[in-house]
Amino acid sequence: MKQQNVLELRELCVQVDGKELLHNINLTIPSGEVHAIFGLNGSGKTSLMMAIMGYAKYEVTNGQILFEGKDITDMDITERSRLGISIAQQRPPTISGVKLRDVINYTSTHNSRKLSDIDRIIKDAHMENLIDRDINRGLSGGEIKRSELLQLLVLQPKFSMLDEPDSGVDVESLGLVGELINKLFSSNSIRPAKRKAGIIITHSGNMLNHINIDKAHVMLNGRIGCTGNPHIILERISKCGYEECIRCMQEGA
Ligand SMILES: Nc1ncnc2c1ncn2[C@@H]1O[C@H](COP(=O)(O)OP(=O)(O)OP(=O)(O)O)[C@@H](O)[C@H]1O
Ligand SMILES: [Mg+2]
Repeated sequence: MKQQNVLELRELCVQVDGKELLHNINLTIPSGEVHAIFGLNGSGKTSLMMAIMGYAKYEVTNGQILFEGKDITDMDITERSRLGISIAQQRPPTISGVKLRDVINYTSTHNSRKLSDIDRIIKDAHMENLIDRDINRGLSGGEIKRSELLQLLVLQPKFSMLDEPDSGVDVESLGLVGELINKLFSSNSIRPAKRKAGIIITHSGNMLNHINIDKAHVMLNGRIGCTGNPHIILERISKCGYEECIRCMQEGA
């Protein structure tokens, strides 16, 4: 049976406030694969995720975004979310007056999940004491990451994008965050190899010790410069820095 691509970006150019941040991006995520994106600060990783999610500020000026073979380039964020695309943001906003519990209850009612399952997910994420706070109000960096993951675990999207889920997370909690991410992508405990697809942005190799990443892409100055085995790419980057990626990309251009 032919493997379907969940996400396909074709020659995608994106601008924000009149400035082009992403240039001719081609990226394919096949069904069941989780890909990592590495890259220097300011290389365009977050912008890429925001553009895929459909945040209005990120204007597609060229190219296409296909989800499960369907062109979603002109769809707004709500329509994309309904198709099953979701994001855990790098720096999600604080939302006063909206409790995390309200969002969890709303989501679980809509997707008809059992209360006992939701209670277990909250417990697994160690969020029992934080669930009655306004969204992200007063949460530490690591707690915010767990809150974002908790919302995705309840939502069970088809395609999850995690923007630095490990940043600000202490070494001891990394294992927990890794477990939550594994549950998100392998929600079928009887068939754990049947995974959902997604993208993870990370700066550290630690994530690779906790979760299975199928492929990695390196972003440089708003372009994807290199694609390959995540362990090999990260090993080269930690030895030589991004200098070699820049040189390699210039040679290829
Ligand atoms: N509204 C904007 N106007 C102008 N430039 C912007 C705007 N938003 C983002 N940028 C610029 O786009 C570039 C890419 O930003 P982005 O947040 O995508 O980087 P990143 O790869 O996620 O970096 P980091 O690893 O630090 O999170 C940066 O140079 C940033 O300053
Ligand atoms: Mg970023």
